[in-house]
Amino acid sequence: MTTTHDGHKRTNNKKLLAWVDQMAALCKPERIYWCDGSQEEYDRLCEELVDVGVYTRLNPEKRTNCYLARSHPSDVARVENRTFICSEKEEDAGPTNNWMDPKEMRAHLNEAFDGCMRGRTMYVIPFSMGPLGSPIAHIGVEITDSAYVVTNQRIMTRMGQGALDVLGADGDFVPCMHSVGAPLEPGQDDVAWPCEPDIEKKYISHFPETREIWSYGSGYGGNALLGKKCLALRIASVMARDEGWLAEHMLILGVESPDGEKTYVSAAFPSACGKTNFAMLIPPKEGFEDWKVTTIGDDIAWIKPNKEDGRFYAINPEYGYFGVAPGTNMNSNPNAMLSIQENSIFTNVALTDDGDVWWEGMTDEPPTHAIDWKGNDWTPASGIPAAHPNSRFTAPASQCPSIDPDWENPAGVPISAFIFGGRVSKNFPLVYQAYNWEHGVYMAATMGSEATAAAIGQEAMRRDPMAMLPFCGYNMADYWRHWLRIGRQNVATPPRIFRVNWFRKDEHGKFIWPGFGENMRALKWVVDRCRGRGVGIESPLGWVPSYEELNWEGLDFSREQYYSIMNIDREFARKEANDQEELFTRFGDHLPPEMELERQLQLARIFHSPGVWDIGMVSKQAA
Ligand code: GTP
Ligand code: SPV
Ligand code: MN
Repeated sequence: MTTTHDGHKRTNNKKLLAWVDQMAALCKPERIYWCDGSQEEYDRLCEELVDVGVYTRLNPEKRTNCYLARSHPSDVARVENRTFICSEKEEDAGPTNNWMDPKEMRAHLNEAFDGCMRGRTMYVIPFSMGPLGSPIAHIGVEITDSAYVVTNQRIMTRMGQGALDVLGADGDFVPCMHSVGAPLEPGQDDVAWPCEPDIEKKYISHFPETREIWSYGSGYGGNALLGKKCLALRIASVMARDEGWLAEHMLILGVESPDGEKTYVSAAFPSACGKTNFAMLIPPKEGFEDWKVTTIGDDIAWIKPNKEDGRFYAINPEYGYFGVAPGTNMNSNPNAMLSIQENSIFTNVALTDDGDVWWEGMTDEPPTHAIDWKGNDWTPASGIPAAHPNSRFTAPASQCPSIDPDWENPAGVPISAFIFGGRVSKNFPLVYQAYNWEHGVYMAATMGSEATAAAIGQEAMRRDPMAMLPFCGYNMADYWRHWLRIGRQNVATPPRIFRVNWFRKDEHGKFIWPGFGENMRALKWVVDRCRGRGVGIESPLGWVPSYEELNWEGLDFSREQYYSIMNIDREFARKEANDQEELFTRFGDHLPPEMELERQLQLARIFHSPGVWDIGMVSKQAA
């Protein structure tokens, strides 16, 4: 084994060169390859992946320059129970993270990574999260033995020589170590999706103090594309705490009114709860003729308060979308459908007989025959999904028709509102606004949702503070404290805070709110409130819009229907606020006192309200 490679020609960063040599000595790959990020390199690697059966080239007339990959059936989503925050002290990881002593974890990792790349190529992927050279951006370098990861990272990040140039001789980077955990013995044939099938041997590890990532055993999504959840959320949230900014599981969008007024908002919804849809929203044709929504990002936002004007500026650190495929169609999300027509990678969707992709909800009529995500023949009569529920597309952000002209602005865009929302099928209003920053942080911290990426359809409520439960790299209560502090620095106007819920169901289990493009009606109220225009009614939960305050043009949605998704059931609200105590007590001394004070205020407001807080009644009284 030799560690000769051409890294010295590409960078003179001593820390990087030494790290690569050290990792090569540990992993013992057959060869080391430094990625330059060029189109030529991407095409060559995809071609190699086609040759070995990892990628299927799709019909170029249907999807130009697109590929399909099928993962191992055991490797289809992030593995939260194998995700670790290895801070020196357990309490710094907090009760919502899996913690392991860093010494113990390093011992496991040294054993797992020893010789793990035997028979394989070790790829070195330099990348920038955020526009190259932006003061908000950060450099990472991922080492991986998966060419699937390399090709996806080229879409998801600004990858290659440009990142090395920004890094320079003395620049710092986040080392992101990744292996699928499937070394090849001499003569052993490779499989289409190598990974470590034993869940107990997978490790998605983070060392917040030394800002390192070590991921072993999985080749899928957030487990393997380490710039995304591992760097841009878990490690970045720690950097953000130390440096006074926010790293959030948020989309960023712009709303342009007919007279050209532009308002940016950022929204946090848990995984598979509609961030991509909302980020690419197309306003209803009737009632919003000259309104436009533009997309900055669909999953992650890095947000910094600006000392000069007191506003919060956000960038999308990513370069592409890793979006949920099922349910995406020309009605629900035309912008996503148009983004994935070329230069995209599809993972775990179905393959049609004419060489195109398909998934549940893509068309009204399913194809009569397809190859499903496991590679088997499939027909509508099969009775199983053709695409995995967490199947995804990887597509360049630049291909999105609604992309905002400022999406690569290194300074970011000014945010006027933070919106938080989960999936709640009962007793939770469509939209409301916090009374102030502390109340908003409390609302966001107590957010719950009924489904996770891997388990859509499950109705058990799980608390997902700020949609960051699986992504906060430190103690969640310290993170709330950080939020409280950042809104109360010497800044004039932190964003207004809102909660939304598109998912309320009727007694037959059907969604009451039409959702998707119609969410514009709630979004416009958010914008109005930020601009000082909306009036709002004071409810026990927060400010809510009266029926008259929303624009209903072009939508047949009666006053009664509206009330049915806005009224607040006192018993439910009381139980909800009571249940939050369980979440809060888990944090002991780390809990900021504001959180419990807000909960008590919430209970008091509910106590003094009638059995059902009836927005219809209040509206009538007001009139
Ligand atoms: P991650 O990429 O996992 O972080 O998730 P995401 O928040 O980007 O999820 P995505 O936008 O892909 O969520 C897709 C799911 O939300 C699909 O099941 C959609 O049908 C559903 N969805 C999105 N918007 C709406 C809506 O307005 N109403 C309803 N009922 N469902 C929606
Ligand atoms: C999520 O689960 O929130 C995702 C997908 O965005 S993954 O990148 O796989 O984590
Ligand atoms: Mn996400």
